[in-house]
Amino acid sequence: MKLAFFDTKPYDKPSFDKYGSMHGIEIKYYETKLNEDTVELASGYDAVCVFVNDTVNVGVIDRLCEMGIRIVALRCAGFNNVDMKYAFGQVHVLRVPAYSPYAVAEHAMAMLLTSIRRIHKAYIRTRDFNFSLAGMTGFDLHGKTVGVIGTGRIGRVFIDICRGFGMNVLAYDKYPTAGLDNGDTVRYVSLEELFRDSDIISLHCPLTEETYHVIDEKAIAACKRGVVILNTSRGALVDAEALLTGIKSRKVGAACLDVYEEEADFFFEDFSGHILEDDILARLISMPNVIVTSHQAFLTEDALSNIAQTTVENLVGFARNGQCENEVCFRGGQAEDCKCGKCF
Ligand code: NAI
Repeated sequence: MKLAFFDTKPYDKPSFDKYGSMHGIEIKYYETKLNEDTVELASGYDAVCVFVNDTVNVGVIDRLCEMGIRIVALRCAGFNNVDMKYAFGQVHVLRVPAYSPYAVAEHAMAMLLTSIRRIHKAYIRTRDFNFSLAGMTGFDLHGKTVGVIGTGRIGRVFIDICRGFGMNVLAYDKYPTAGLDNGDTVRYVSLEELFRDSDIISLHCPLTEETYHVIDEKAIAACKRGVVILNTSRGALVDAEALLTGIKSRKVGAACLDVYEEEADFFFEDFSGHILEDDILARLISMPNVIVTSHQAFLTEDALSNIAQTTVENLVGFARNGQCENEVCFRGGQAEDCKCGKCF
């Protein structure tokens, strides 16, 4: 099988070379992202492999089909960058549903601790032999209430980590997990209650029409003063402009963002020495109580290896059987893991 691999970064290659060669997959690595301008590069290949900021829209899907390419292998869990409705019946969309929920949940906690204990400030200060503690006062996590929106694989690991810190958990999920609510330290509540009572809010749900801007002006107004917002899920879950307003008004105490609404234009690339065109991102980054990492939460050796292994197994399994347990399809009005195993 010949695979056209888009948005390649140096850290992708070792694990994909390893698992690809084990299964006879010939991989052409392209640094460019997949979009309507670059889709021609896939000509002559059997499948494309894409990441979170590649675009698989109507134009791309049409062209892939014209070129006889029927497989889009996502090397990530989220599929909001694929027009799933249009893809149905035309291209098979395979994904890596879980590669390391620990990588993302641990990064969320790392960002939270960095922020509230001012580690990012301390690191810079002590390198300059400034040993003053002025402005470094943080707060204990023990006994605080964390609101977790989305209690899937990552959300549940994050809840376990928070419980290890002695925090109380308010959870919200459209499809609650049976047995998670213990009626005491972990409780499912309405979004309203979660906003009202949480000291920290962490987002672990997918980006859908329903969850788009789940943190907006209204939600922020409903939160406690000083609330800390963590987003390691998808940028557009948070209305970045409303967040900035909330920070300026001191309503939001801190924000930790591994993802950003307009990240596709910037994240994963080196813009140092350039003038950043996005005023909201630049202003957020300039805030002392905002930490931004550039969609880094997944980036552990363990996760990269799991991603490559599952992506290759998805492709090999699909080539062999014409079906794959990690296919996502659009049935019953929403995109979800394919239950039939063979969509068209
Ligand atoms: P998952 O599918 O295991 O869990 C998602 C949870 O969200 C499910 O329990 C689902 O019921 C819930 N959900 C769906 N619609 C909802 C709604 N309208 N309101 C509230 N909850 C809703 O997914 P997983 O593996 O836990 O990943 C969560 C998200 O993390 C992914 O969708 C992806 O966007 C993001 N992610 C970010 C990474 C990073 O590097 N920053 C890496 C991997 C995933």
